[in-house]
Parts: sequence; structure tokens; C-alpha cells
Amino acid sequence: MKNYLIVLLISYVSFSLSQNTEKEKFIDDLISKMTLVEKAGQMNQYNGFFDATGEMPEGDYQTKRYNELKNGQVGSMLNVIGVDEIKAFQRIAVEDTRLGIPLIFGHDVIHGYKTIFPIPLAESCTWDMDLIKKTARTAAREASADGLNWTFAPMVDISRDARWGRVMEGAGEDPFLGSLIAKARVQGFQGDNLSDISTIAACAKHYAGYGFSEAGRDYNTADFNHYTLHNTILPPFKAANDAGVKTFMNAFNTIDEIPATGHKILQRDILKKDWAFDGFIVSDWGSIEQMIPHGFARDGNHAAELAILAGSDMDMESSLYVNELVKLVENGKIGISLIDDAVRRILNVKYDLGLFENPYKYCDKKRSEKELMSEKNMNLALEVAMKSIVLLKNESELLPLNKNNQTIALIGPLASDKNSSLGNWRSQAISNSATSVLEAMTNYSGNKLFYEKGVDLYYNNTDFHNRVNLNFDDRSEFNKAKTVAEKADIVVMVLGEEGYQSGEGRSRTNIKLPGLQLELLKEIYEINKNIVLVVNSGRPLDLSWEDENIPTIVQAWQLGSRSGEAIAKVLYGDYNPSGKLTMSFPRNVGQVPIYYNFKNTGRPSTSIEQVTNSGYADVENSALYPFGHGLSYTKFSYTDVLLDKTELTLKSKITLSFKIKNIGTVKGTEIAQMYIRDVVGSIARPMRELKGFKVVELNPGESKVVNFEINAKLLEFYSYNNKWEAELGDFQVFVGGSSDTSDFQEFELVN
Ligand code: GLC
Repeated sequence: MKNYLIVLLISYVSFSLSQNTEKEKFIDDLISKMTLVEKAGQMNQYNGFFDATGEMPEGDYQTKRYNELKNGQVGSMLNVIGVDEIKAFQRIAVEDTRLGIPLIFGHDVIHGYKTIFPIPLAESCTWDMDLIKKTARTAAREASADGLNWTFAPMVDISRDARWGRVMEGAGEDPFLGSLIAKARVQGFQGDNLSDISTIAACAKHYAGYGFSEAGRDYNTADFNHYTLHNTILPPFKAANDAGVKTFMNAFNTIDEIPATGHKILQRDILKKDWAFDGFIVSDWGSIEQMIPHGFARDGNHAAELAILAGSDMDMESSLYVNELVKLVENGKIGISLIDDAVRRILNVKYDLGLFENPYKYCDKKRSEKELMSEKNMNLALEVAMKSIVLLKNESELLPLNKNNQTIALIGPLASDKNSSLGNWRSQAISNSATSVLEAMTNYSGNKLFYEKGVDLYYNNTDFHNRVNLNFDDRSEFNKAKTVAEKADIVVMVLGEEGYQSGEGRSRTNIKLPGLQLELLKEIYEINKNIVLVVNSGRPLDLSWEDENIPTIVQAWQLGSRSGEAIAKVLYGDYNPSGKLTMSFPRNVGQVPIYYNFKNTGRPSTSIEQVTNSGYADVENSALYPFGHGLSYTKFSYTDVLLDKTELTLKSKITLSFKIKNIGTVKGTEIAQMYIRDVVGSIARPMRELKGFKVVELNPGESKVVNFEINAKLLEFYSYNNKWEAELGDFQVFVGGSSDTSDFQEFELVN
């Protein structure tokens, strides 16, 4: 048997080596045939610039790009949508150019393609890696069925600032959870075999530090020290790299005052050398040219030089590589080896996708018709939407609603909305295709349901490039809402942000309920205090007044195609909410940035009375709702928390065990969390860091013993010595259903 396995292993290794050799031979041969102009062309990416199935392009801009396309000076297109369009562009590249190198087609498939899943920040609140992988797998199946081979996802930027509109696109504030989600999403998009027709290349973005844009203002300077870079910002990128992600996208911001696009240490030293990344880096939209306004490049030629020297392989939409690289090589400013390396990386990914074998493999209309918004995909959208919902507060247990003999007033501009819940990066979603809360609650016919919009959230329809024109003065529908509230047993109010109020370019300084919604809520509250507030938003909002006065609050994010049904199922108890926050909710915007894994400072404050300690005079330091928080319709107890040893060596392990029990009356799912504090370090260490979690489903009265394994690897951090290591000393271990759990056990790491 043993000999058989050895033979099997040898043949597998030799097979894969031969595959690699064949690939290398093919690519070496192709590169040897390419002119410098064609090499620079491979590094050039254009947005869809004309309808390739229609009339010939016209005007200078389109004609220049069309001629470059026919001349083999375009390597990739983005935002070309649909089998016909993609096929038309691919035909030009494959049949009209000298070498017939196929294009790679990219698009932002961020939370679904046509079946829309919850925005990533919502989905991260499931803490369910299998589910997160499944939605990425499904999105890849839909996108590839429609001709695409590459998505600009997962966005893995850690952020602690709810003013930044792009928090909706990420996985919250924690690097441990963010790393697991990055890995799950890459594996979902890319599958086990990139040449499989249902998989697409993924893209870890935005490398790096974009989530730390100062004051939450999009595209702003990012300012953080290199320990934050290594301990907080880079881990999810490293996880994506280790999961085999094929591309990275760099970022608009600076790191240590150097634009990411021109940052050699970041791109060549850390990513390509230390992490041995073998894919390619695409710039973010125009970020090569933006090094000029950054004050880092003199002109386009200088920007192209800085970008290629720093390791940016493909130029999204600044046309500087296609216009400047040939001159830079001919003038001796850059060596051809840098160009060849970038081209090789790009051709490698095209080869792995199977595009050389069959450039039209993704262009199959029958697959597209069968796959897009299939029943299976839409059912998955409902499951993940329900699990993304976080019950923030349920004081007088207004939830779950009775299904009979209740009069319910449903109020709010988002209650009947079928668009906002599709979120900002809604790819090919059909407008107004999401189910609304109103539609879904109408199906629960045992109750009397009265609906009033109450107020318009905005004056006119929004589109991607316009700011939402909020309504600040039309109260004409308030009274109709007050009338239905008066006669209701319970008022369900669905309020929050319009779908395009968060996302790229949507930073806000005021993160309260937008427009006149809070005013309406307060007036309804004066009439009927039995209010269930459902919040649709792409970010944590300032819900302080709501937390003070409203008995029940549900954070329902933007949940995608099946949003309304998911919310209704939770409100009526057909699904017991299990989501846990992955981003802290501030008491007000003045607290931002706020996060659970903060440092203690030299003057830690525990109350606002302490004048000369690190705190505010007007609010306490803690978050309104902390990372890890999320309630259920049942309750869980944590008892018998034990460490089997109180000393850990660099080679041993400690088992933390505890009993978790469902002490309520309905079945529920609890995400039990483990946090560890490194009490003393060579640099100041966070008060606690997430180091493990378990999703536990329990029937009423049922209990389970849960074990977490602790080893030295789990304690490693990027230390004062500029390397990842665990340092000897005291540690505290916390276990509970939220990051603010207080009980802890202690152990020591010894030699
Ligand atoms: C945008 C975004 C990036 C996106 C790209 C293509 O500016 O920053 O996340 O993938 O351009 O749409």
C-alpha cells in the first residue's frame, strides 16, 4: 500500500510539474514574440468604451482606444457586461491582433452579480465562513455564466470609521475575522481550479490602508504607524494571498506619505518577495495618474515610471502604461525585465483561466439564462440575508411579533422600498427587484397591517454619480403615519439610508438617521411607544436617541434580493436572529474611530466623571453596541469556564473549555467568542483581540461544552523587533457572546 501511495505522489508531482513546465514554455514563447508595444498593451486596462456589438466607435477617445485594441495594446477590459458584448471585444483581440492574446474581463462583483446578497459588512455578521464562501461561489457562477472571468473582490480593508462610506464593502474592524472572511471569499470566487468554467479570478483590495482614510473622508490621506500596518491592516491581505488570490488591487491613499501605487516596499518587498505573490497587481481606477495630484509624480511619464518601479503591473484607466512605458524603456529609465515580469504575471492568470485554450469559453448564453437568479441562488440569498440580521435591543420583547390578532402599523420610506436593499455595488441587479418589508409582511395575513410611508427620504431618484438629495422640509405625510400609529398594537418603522448613501464616495459627517426620519420617529414615539425600529444602512449609524427610547431595534443593513422576506421572517420569529456585529456602533460621530481592540493608554478611563483620564466629558468611552454584540429571542449562559493549564510553552497548547446553555424557550444560535489580551508587550497591545469563535445551535434547555485550543502561534504579533513572534508573559482569556464580556481566566507563556 505504502509503495502505491509513493508512486501516486510521484506521478501527481511530476504531472503538475509537467503542467507548469508546459505553461512556462507557452508563456516564455509568447513573450519572446511580443514587441515592446504589445507588452505595454498587456498592462493596459480600459473600461468598456463603446458598444462592440453596435456601430463603429466614433470620436478621438473611442477611436484611439479602438485602434489600440486592434493593435494588441489592450490587455484587459472592465465593466463590459453580457455574453454578446464580451464576445465582440474578445473577437477583436483574438482575431484582429497580430498575436491574438485574449482579453481578461473584470467587473465589481462585490455582493452578487444578478442575485444580490447582503452587502459584505452585513454578511460578515453571520460569522459563517461556509456560507460566505457559498455566496462568493454563487456570484462567480453567475458572473462567469455571463462572460466575466475576474471580480474586483474581496475588498478586505479593515476600517473603524463609520463616516467612510466604503465600510459597507468590507468585513468590519477585526483582522482575525477579516482574515478568515478574506480566505473564504477568495476560495469561493476561485474554487479549486481556476480553469473551471464556473470560477473567476478574485482580487484582494485595496492594498493597503484605504480603510484608514483620515476623518472617514474617501480618498483622503491615511495615517497609521507600521505596527498598525502589520498587525491590523495587512493580515486579511496575507490571508487572501495564502488562499491563492490571483490579483491584488492597490489603493488611492498614501502609506507613510507614499501613494500605494508607487509604494515599492508594499508591492515588491512585502507582497511579491516576502509573501511570494505570483499573480498581478492592478492599479485602482486612475491611481497611477493620481500620483501627480498627490505631488509624488511630475507628469504622466514620471507617474508611469514610479508605478512600474514600485510593482504595479496593470494600469486601470489612466492610459499611462500604454502611452509612456515604451518611451521609458527606450530612454533607459526602466529595464525591460520589469515589463516582462508584469506581462508574465498577467499572461499566467489568463493561462490559468483557460483563456488561451478557449477565449470564448465563458461566452455561453444558455449558461447565462440558466444560472442568473436561479431558484437555488435566490434561496441562498434569503438564507444569508436572515443570518446577517443583528438584533441590537429587544427590551420589552416586542419581538417576535404575534402572527394573529394584532394591529400593526408599518411606517417608513424604506418599508416599501425595493431598491435600496440592493446596496451600492449592485452589479447587474434588476432595479426595484428586491422584496420589500411591506410585501413580505402582507403575507402574514393573521394580523391587520396598515402601511404609511410617513416621509420621503429623498426628493429624486439617485444614481451612482449623484449625491442623494435628502428631504429636509416635506412633512406632508407625517399625519397619515401618526393616524395608523395611533390605532396600532405595535409600530414597525423601517428607516435608514438609501442604497447609494453608503459606498464609494459616500462619506458622511453626520451618521444619524438621514433627513426627517428621526423627527418622524420621535413624533410617532409620542403617540405609540411600542415601536420596533428596523434600520437599513450600509454603515453603523448613531442610534443613541433610539437606544435611549425605542424598546426594540433590528440592524437589517442592505440585505439584497430577498431583503423584505428575511426581515419579515425575523420579525415574526420564523428565523431567530443570530447575527453579531463586526463593526462597533458609536454613541455619536464624535467617538469615531471607535473599535473594541483599543489600547489601554496611560490613563484609562472607566467613567466620564474621571476628568484627568482618557475620556470625554459628554459620553462614556464604550461603544453603543460593541463588536461581537447581537441578541437572540432566547438567552444563553456561559459557565464552567476553565483552562486545563495555566502555563503555556512555545510548543505546548492550552485547552479553554466552557459550557454554553440555551436558558430560554426557543431554539437559537449563539456565536461564542474567545478574546485574548497580551498584558505586557514590546509595544502597547490591545485590551483584547478576537482569537476564536464557535457557532453553536441549541434547543431550549440544551447545553454543550465548547473547547478552544490556545497555542503560541495564536499569540503572535508584529513586535518591536519588526517580526511576527509571541512574547513571554501574562495573558488573559475572555469568553462570551460579545467583545465586552468581562470575566477572564489567566495563563502565562513561558520558555
Ligand atoms: C473604483 C474602486 C474599486 C473598483 C474600481 C473599478 O474606483 O475604488 O474598488 O474595483 O474602481 O470599478
